[in-house]
Parts: sequence; C-alpha cells; structure tokens
Amino acid sequence: MPHRPYIVGNWKMNGTRAMLTEARAIDRAAARHPGVQVALAPPFTLVHAVAEETQAVGTGGQDCHTAAKGAHTGDVSAAMLADAGADFVIVGHSERRRDHGETDTLVQAKAEAALAGGLGVIVCVGETLAERDAGKAEAVVTMQVKASLPKLDEGAKANPARMAVAYEPVWAIGTGRVAAVEDVVAMHGAIRATLLSLYGESGAAVRILYGGSVNAENARDLLAADGVGGALVGGASLNAESFLAIVAAAASEA
Ligand code: PGA
Repeated sequence: MPHRPYIVGNWKMNGTRAMLTEARAIDRAAARHPGVQVALAPPFTLVHAVAEETQAVGTGGQDCHTAAKGAHTGDVSAAMLADAGADFVIVGHSERRRDHGETDTLVQAKAEAALAGGLGVIVCVGETLAERDAGKAEAVVTMQVKASLPKLDEGAKANPARMAVAYEPVWAIGTGRVAAVEDVVAMHGAIRATLLSLYGESGAAVRILYGGSVNAENARDLLAADGVGGALVGGASLNAESFLAIVAAAASEA
C-alpha cells in the first residue's frame, strides 16, 4: 500500500456530547497504531469538541458549502470547519446526493472549496443496485469520479495527497450487504485509472477507500484487497470497540 491505511468514521447524524467518550477511547487506541491514519467525521455540532479532545485522530466535517461565507442559512463553509479544528471534509456522500439532490457538479465545487479552504477532502462515489444489475456500475462510477473530483489548477496540483475517493456502493451502505472483494478490486482499479487520466502521475497519490457495511469481521479481507487504501465506516464507527477492531485490522495490513 503506498500510504498508511486511512480509516475514517462517518458518524452521520448521530452523536451528542455523550459520544465524546467514544471519541476519546478511539483517540487513545489510535495513538497505539501509528501505522494507521485514523479520523472521525462527527456531525457539525461536535467537530470542535472532537478536534479539541483528540490528538491522534483527524477530525472532519460531513459536508461544506461551495462559498467561503455569506447568506446561506444552515450551511457551513470549509473555512469554518477549519476554524473549528477540522482537517478534512467528506463531500458527495450518497445520502446527501439523495436527501439534498446534490449533483456531481455541486460536489465538485464543494471539493474545490474544501481544498481552497485548506482542508483535505474525501469525495464519495458509488452505484445503485439497479445500475450494478444493469452492468453499468463501472461506467457510472467512472463518470462520477470525472465529474465530482476537483479540477486542479497549477496551485492545487501539489495537493492530490489531500484528496481521497470513497467508493461506496449505495446498496451496501447501512444494509449489512458488503460488496464482493473482487468487485471492490475491479472498481478500485477503474477509479485509479480515471485518477491517472485526470491528474497524470500525481493521480497515484489520491487515496481510494471502500465504504459500505465495513465491520470487524469483513475489514481484514477488504483492507487486504488490491488497491484498497482504507475504509469509510458508518455504523461500526459509532462505538469505539467495533471501530477499533477495524483499525486493528488495518494495522495488521499496514
Ligand atoms: P455503513 O456506512 O458503514 O453504515 O454502511 C458507510 C458510509 O455511508 O459511509
């Protein structure tokens, strides 16, 4: 693996201040696994507290606006996340694409705003079950990668190491249904080829994570698979014990 495995917990719309106990436990354990890069993306309301109370884990937001500031009630900018202590942001999660009608064009603008605001960015892509059944999974995901990843100008070119793609088949998210390892390997290969065509050789520095029902039982096989640089974990990240089992699986692969 060219990078330390990157294991990111996406808490989604879960967690009040009581969850800081889990964040602290995750942080203590992450410090014992320096070979793994561990991060948490709590809801906005906990970003500052998680950033303050952890040292070994990165902290991220789950979305940001395309603008740095302004009249956008309810939205949060990349600069605000950075100010609250975040070092990255997730954009284009399929739940946002579904719940908020986010398009590839919007996701791309958000990803560019994240980099401009000094954050790392994880851009999520993934096909629906109907698309997979129709044999279109690779074409759909390749299109999403091309249209959702930041257009890099000269200034931003040094930044692919701050970018990650999370391949999350929509039908595998929160369903307990995990993608077959050979399908994950094939898709990660297709995503890597697209990144190289977009960014030239610096496309090799973009990490590609798998997400969708990753848990303590399946993490080892997924993380050992060719081209898998880490995992974006939803449900299993809400509890320190189950999340740390995934971190430990990554440590044994590192
Ligand atoms: P899950 O969610 O692990 O609960 O399937 C993954 C994600 O949506 O990032």
